[in-house]
Amino acid sequence: MQAVEAGGARIPLIGLGTWDLRGKTCTRMVDEALRLGYRHIDTAAMYDNERAVGEGLRASGIKRDEVFVTTKVWQSDLRARDFERSTKESLSNLKLDQVDLLLIHWPNPSIPLAETIGALCKMKREGLARHVGVSNFTVTLIEEAVKLATEPLVCNQFECHPYLDQSKLIAATRKRGMAVVAYSPIARGQAKGDEVMARIGRAHGKTAAQVCLRWLVQQDIVVIPRTSRSERLKENFEIFDFKLSPAEMTEVAKLGSPRGRIVDWSGGPAWD
Ligand SMILES: NC(=O)c1ccc[n+]([C@@H]2O[C@H](COP(=O)([O-])OP(=O)(O)OC[C@H]3O[C@@H](n4cnc5c(N)ncnc54)[C@H](OP(=O)(O)O)[C@@H]3O)[C@@H](O)[C@H]2O)c1
Repeated sequence: MQAVEAGGARIPLIGLGTWDLRGKTCTRMVDEALRLGYRHIDTAAMYDNERAVGEGLRASGIKRDEVFVTTKVWQSDLRARDFERSTKESLSNLKLDQVDLLLIHWPNPSIPLAETIGALCKMKREGLARHVGVSNFTVTLIEEAVKLATEPLVCNQFECHPYLDQSKLIAATRKRGMAVVAYSPIARGQAKGDEVMARIGRAHGKTAAQVCLRWLVQQDIVVIPRTSRSERLKENFEIFDFKLSPAEMTEVAKLGSPRGRIVDWSGGPAWD
């Protein structure tokens, strides 16, 4: 499995996103994904599915140290004491001693960042997380977080797909040695009906969704597409046996605009 290295972490280039997957469906998709070859699962305390994710991990029979598991602490739990409680609850729900990556899910302007980053780094020092990072951090917040952190921040996870021009945030993330992890990498399914990516895909015997994911991984951006369908698990995983030409990469990039966000940011940070 190809991976992106950052801050001592090796993050598999593709993972299964699990937002909105619940109960048996979630367990089945995690189990099937791991059997297919996925080695990276993305969950969060807020998704309320960590028990089901943990069951899927165990059902697959894949050894614990072969799977990269990410979870996140929600915005309301960013005070130091809450942060630690939330992390321990996540581990208990997943039935794991440690996650591979623990993220601040969304920044919270009403809680000092120093307190939250301190709590995040403590989780690494105490062995509850192998690596730590952030999610939905802006350019300004990345700079502040890096200054405050006593442990390497290995990634910034944010919305990233061809319809949204994230070049500034990608550059700022990489400047600080962090990996870019793309959430909503197929624009919540929108890429499927895209004429440009469908045409490019036909030339490679691939679907528009596969071209969309390939465009990201070919830039060393980690992708975590979510699906509730077995056939799409396979489709989303089969993106490592073809390559987009420089002209095709440019054509897909042209679909992007700074206003192409599809995930609601109204509860998000207002720093820049
Ligand atoms: N850190 C954050 O704040 C944050 C925010 C959002 C998401 N995330 C993470 O990122 C993951 C992925 O993002 P996302 O769930 O928002 O969106 P996404 O992965 O871009 O899209 C998921 C949607 O696309 C459909 N889909 C999946 N594969 C497809 C394919 N090959 N062709 C056509 N449609 C396809 C799925 O429907 P079916 O189920 O019917 O296949 C689902 O409706 C989440 O699950 C979560 O783990 C993190």
